[in-house]
Amino acid sequence: MSERWYKEAVIYCIEVDSFQDSNGDGCGDLKGLTSRLDYLARLGVTCLWLNPIHPSPQRDDGYDVSDYYGVDPRLGDLGDFVELATQARGRGIRILLDLVVNHTSDEHPWFRSARSDPASPYRDWYVWSTAEPSDRRQGMVFPGEQTETWTFDDVAGQWYFHRFYDFQPDLNWSTPAVRTEIKKVMEFWLRLGASGFRIDAAPFVLEQISPGVDPGPLDFSILDDWRQDVQWSSGEAVLLCEANVSADDLPKYCRAVAGGPNDRAHMLFAFGLNAKLWLALAREDAEPLVEAIGALPRLPAMSQWATFLRNHDELDLSKLTDEQRGDVMAAFAPKADMRIYNRGIRRRLASMMKGERRRIELAYSLQFTMPGTPVLRYGEEIGMGEDLALPGRESIRTPMQWDASRGAGFSTASPTDFVRPVLSRGPYAAKRVNVRAQRRDRDSLLRWFEELVRVLRECPEVGVGEPSVLDVPLPRSVLAHRFEAPEGSVLLLHNLADVPVRIDLSAIDVGRHPYEVFADSDYGALQKDRSQVQLNGWGYRWIRLRRGD
Ligand code: NOJ
Repeated sequence: MSERWYKEAVIYCIEVDSFQDSNGDGCGDLKGLTSRLDYLARLGVTCLWLNPIHPSPQRDDGYDVSDYYGVDPRLGDLGDFVELATQARGRGIRILLDLVVNHTSDEHPWFRSARSDPASPYRDWYVWSTAEPSDRRQGMVFPGEQTETWTFDDVAGQWYFHRFYDFQPDLNWSTPAVRTEIKKVMEFWLRLGASGFRIDAAPFVLEQISPGVDPGPLDFSILDDWRQDVQWSSGEAVLLCEANVSADDLPKYCRAVAGGPNDRAHMLFAFGLNAKLWLALAREDAEPLVEAIGALPRLPAMSQWATFLRNHDELDLSKLTDEQRGDVMAAFAPKADMRIYNRGIRRRLASMMKGERRRIELAYSLQFTMPGTPVLRYGEEIGMGEDLALPGRESIRTPMQWDASRGAGFSTASPTDFVRPVLSRGPYAAKRVNVRAQRRDRDSLLRWFEELVRVLRECPEVGVGEPSVLDVPLPRSVLAHRFEAPEGSVLLLHNLADVPVRIDLSAIDVGRHPYEVFADSDYGALQKDRSQVQLNGWGYRWIRLRRGD
């Protein structure tokens, strides 16, 4: 029986305004994205996660929504969304939308009404305090950019709570009308063709805020309801939670009863694994990964991790110790302007790897063989870099580089009118790093990614089956792990250091006819006694041990 679609997916994360402009106004749009679906189909991705597409003052890149039932006019309209979803579906590609409902924009009509009139029906849709909260300078998510979590509103004459920026007032989830309204929002987009939602800032949606007191226990009944509702509305719909919380708390986002069926989110981002992956890469040491794979909480059978290396935010290293974080920063963000919020890195992967192709491949081969469904950020497949001249997280949101022209094939507008400047200088500039050139080059990173995705298709047990780390003596830099499933079994070898190694697999039962399905170079046939398996510096080998009966 085939697996649930989200378990076998390759998810591609897109900033619509930076991907492809169709009308020459300098801003990417839904029609432009639709025109690039063939590219995405060839790449092999099966699901697009769109960063917020709703009307928004754009003070947090769309994560400040002012109308949940619309499309930002810069990006198109509802018809364009339906057309995108329909055309994508024709190519076997589904769409996930960001559901940003911890907060709205302060320009949302709900908040405008709430602040302007104590009798407004929307007043209790937000979280207010009549007195100055004693904890108003605590719990900021964006240190350095945010100084408080409660702000006095002159219009309302009260303090309102905002976990994020002050222009993002938190919705009050204990108000029943808020729950009803957001259910409507979800239903609306499912009917228009979305296949589910990335739940933005999930733990903050569930927290219960009162001024001056620690938040009470999380209210998981919100997730219970959402699961019931989306499943009723669409059997294929998935909920993917953004919850960067402790390993102990994570399973609660998937299941209501220990050992019971999956009745909350279908997928969770693997934040802990992400940080340990970066630590392992920085130290060229497999140990953090061995530990992270072993420590992954067990999820219900129908749940799945979503793995990633880079996303649209900073690379968040807050869950590492100071020493560990220091090592990752020293390796991949040596300069102060590469860092952000005292915890993260605002760079793309290729530049963090100094453009070293073998190391880029190693990193992505590792991600694509971790337990879970891989999520890939647009532009990573061609090795785009960042623009540190842009503020904050904007550095990693530059236009997609389609060709070597001035506008990078992104838009025909004058580059001065672009939503963000095209990267035009240095080794990652569009004239050097672009889709068109890599299309023609059989050895390009883009071609390599296409192959990676194809091989993953061929190995359905990878990421989905039962993972285990091999318990044999290995050099520190080598991770050897495998996946077992009824479909078969695959052994994965990765060398995190730039030093070739020979490893002894003779103690492992590799079956009668092991054969290599993917590797960084041609290693030749596997030796019979398998006592001398080679692995290049930053090398990787995917070895099929068994196919299902
Ligand atoms: C999490 C999103 O990933 C981030 O980009 C955004 O700034 C915050 N939520 C606030 O919505």
